[in-house]
Amino acid sequence: MNPPTPSTITIDGPAASGKSTIGELLARHLDYLYFDTGVMYRAVTWAALYYGVPIDDEAAVTALAERLRIDVAPPNVDDGCDPVDGRDPVDGRQYTVLADGADVTWEIRTPAVNAHVSPVSAYPGVRRAMVAQQRRVAAGGRVVMVGRDIGTVVLPDADLKLYLDASVEERARRRWREVRARGEETDYDAVLGSMRRRDDIDSNREDSPLRVAADAIVLDTTDMSVEAVLAETERLVEGGGWTAE
Ligand code: C5P
Repeated sequence: MNPPTPSTITIDGPAASGKSTIGELLARHLDYLYFDTGVMYRAVTWAALYYGVPIDDEAAVTALAERLRIDVAPPNVDDGCDPVDGRDPVDGRQYTVLADGADVTWEIRTPAVNAHVSPVSAYPGVRRAMVAQQRRVAAGGRVVMVGRDIGTVVLPDADLKLYLDASVEERARRRWREVRARGEETDYDAVLGSMRRRDDIDSNREDSPLRVAADAIVLDTTDMSVEAVLAETERLVEGGGWTAE
């Protein structure tokens, strides 16, 4: 008899550790929903900057998070082209992110959002609002949910918990290459500095810091190709290398 397949899979880890690449591929392989929770915190941050809400005004940012409508839709850019391999053939997006109906898919990846997203996501009220929505999305099962606190806080009873890590230099290199591939100018040292600051805030905040869940399986992807990480995660999923309750 084949071992059962985990229905809720969480992938946590720092920025550019491979979570979203692996999460997307694993979800496609299993025909599960892929949900990247980072986009929610990014959408709130984008909206605060856009509407002129001061980032250090916790009450105002929290009120914004509570009322903002965030939708994550399939990756069709409004150009009539169907996705290829789950991605939009024109600009390569994995999904479309809408904030109050506006397409902010790329706006939430700017240096300004990178610089402010960690302080915004450290506010407990912002987290409460986002976590409630994340639990609703996961309630149906068959989901790969990616973030910082998914295995520890959002879905502590998940069937399989993975934690991806890599050296900060390697993660900065990956992010630098991604940004360059989109045709944008960027400086490696600036990317590295921004990543270090984000790691520091995400790991040291009081509410739901970035932590390895006690029952998570840790993969260090520093010297691993995407194919190797995917093969290892598929082996864990399908080989019963996890324990169902
Ligand atoms: O994963 P990504 O880099 O897009 O996440 C952006 C930021 O959102 C993180 O640096 C972190 O501050 C926050 N985040 C979080 N909890 C999550 C996902 C993301 O605090 N579950």
